[in-house]
Amino acid sequence: MKPILILDFGSQFAHLIGNRIRRLRAHSEIIPIDTPAEEIQKMNPAGIILSGGPQSVFAVESLQPDPKIYDIDVPFLGICYGHQLLAHHYGGKIESVHEEFGKAQFTVDETKNSLLLRTLSKNSTVWMNHGDSVTLLPKDFQITGRTKDCPIAAYENKAQKIYSVQFHPEVTHTEEGMTVLDNFVDICGAKGSWNLEKILEDLIENLQKQIGDKNVFLLVSGGVDSSVAFALLNTAIGADRVYGLFVDHGLMRKDEGREVKQMLDKAGFQNLHVANESQYFLNKLQGLTEPEEKRKAIGDAFLDIQKKVSHELQLDSGDWLLGQGTIYPDHIETGGTKHASKIKTHHNRVPEIERMLKKGLIIEPIADFYKDEVREIGKKLGLPKKMIMRHPFPGPGLGVRILCQHEEKILKKSREIKKEILKSFTVDSLVIPVQSVGVQGDARSYKHPVAIFSKNNIESILPLATKIPNTFSEINRVLYCLSQERTPEVLLPILPAEVTEKRVQILQQADAIVRKILFEHDLQESVWQFPVVLLPYGFKQGTESIILRPIQSENAMTATVVLFTPKVFQQMNDEIIQKIPEISAVYVDLTSKPPGTIEWE
Ligand code: XMP
Repeated sequence: MKPILILDFGSQFAHLIGNRIRRLRAHSEIIPIDTPAEEIQKMNPAGIILSGGPQSVFAVESLQPDPKIYDIDVPFLGICYGHQLLAHHYGGKIESVHEEFGKAQFTVDETKNSLLLRTLSKNSTVWMNHGDSVTLLPKDFQITGRTKDCPIAAYENKAQKIYSVQFHPEVTHTEEGMTVLDNFVDICGAKGSWNLEKILEDLIENLQKQIGDKNVFLLVSGGVDSSVAFALLNTAIGADRVYGLFVDHGLMRKDEGREVKQMLDKAGFQNLHVANESQYFLNKLQGLTEPEEKRKAIGDAFLDIQKKVSHELQLDSGDWLLGQGTIYPDHIETGGTKHASKIKTHHNRVPEIERMLKKGLIIEPIADFYKDEVREIGKKLGLPKKMIMRHPFPGPGLGVRILCQHEEKILKKSREIKKEILKSFTVDSLVIPVQSVGVQGDARSYKHPVAIFSKNNIESILPLATKIPNTFSEINRVLYCLSQERTPEVLLPILPAEVTEKRVQILQQADAIVRKILFEHDLQESVWQFPVVLLPYGFKQGTESIILRPIQSENAMTATVVLFTPKVFQQMNDEIIQKIPEISAVYVDLTSKPPGTIEWE
């Protein structure tokens, strides 16, 4: 079936477009921007989407596709950077007049009978993320929609089959984004070209071909991805040719190692083995504080264990491939697509793995799928619901939820920011002297969180989570303190901290309390994921803090906070503080992704 091709300019959202198009049951494929037009033509596309990207069309090194692609006679959809690129190519004008980041009100010009916007409401919310704008259209192009700050927010040229929007239809913040994409799928005549059942059949056949007469050694974490990858491999080549290994790295949640083994046993996996290697991982993490170094150490430790076990079992004879449960977003955020900037190194994308990938020694059965599709595949393979609906848990486990720092990182402007926040938003605040990872404008950021102390309820503070990072470029997260309503009189320095057994235990205990309360209130399914984070900064000598990060997401590319009732949050705070003497404060992270990431690193 003819695919809709998405030319990837390096936007973190490019793959979201792919995912959305597939959900609309149309086949989509992401291809690098520098793919020659001839090759694109050979792929026989139904339509072409030029995606958004962190570039400006003015930049000398700005990304340009092969100019011959514009001669391919199929519908084109421009999104964000693609919107400007198309206008520029056909002779329009692009200027840096008015930036727009975040939500905007979009109005359709109903007099233009737009094909792309035909089923949209006259007014709706869209999500913008641009510095440059189209200020003059090429000849014969029509403006089909606008926002207050962007008079050419949508245009088209029906004769040339060109459709374009400045906003991002692929993100959920754009209320009617799916309608825009659905209309484009219709314009391309591509409906029905993607069918997961058929894809599953092809996938199994491809796996059989790719693996040939070799066997596969797979690291299984008990999470959705590796469990589905495990089941797929078992189905494709038979359980006797798959060796599943669950490495307990000691960075699991409390009792999770045992629970995972039980769950997989119960689901009928008889080829799963367990290696308890907590001490090895802790040793590897000793002395490390920098997030990327921690990730690399954990990724390498997995490989060391895998090699050790392979050697012991003589699986390193050349007859075995290494399997991994990598999914699409993991790949993207490591900068896996050509122009995406690197947000973090995924544990199964460390350099050694990259080398093995190049040599064809790695097999990644679900690397082309998004989380929702992986769950769907799991369902079709008959895995129990409890297993496929588990909250995602990162491969490096609590290793990315235990913040480490040897020295305090004081932000010079802290006092100024505090003063400004008090003046503009009338709340008491504190810039925390610890940094965490975030993602802003498609790139990785490493900045400070600001904590809000207030008598007002959490809901009334929520809007500040957008306003503060937008106002102060040094801040990427906003927290709400559950433990006290005022900043403490005396501020203590941070605790120099690494990943230690003791800190793992503290976090396990806090995480177990949170999970118990979630369960008691039947809130397990109201969150997509709920990281609990340990911060080496407290209000009493020698203590630390806990951050609660309950979020809703669809496939981890974007996320928003889930607010429980104040009573539930208070219960979490009280039990943590009462039961864990090493903790003196509990916060809720109100930040969406972007600008924060889901994990804190
Ligand atoms: P962030 O923190 O980047 O995370 O918003 C997005 C999603 O990815 C998960 N995550 C990982 N999963 N190995 C994994 O298997 C990893 O190294 C890793 N890092 C982050 C994270 O929990 C969230 O669901």
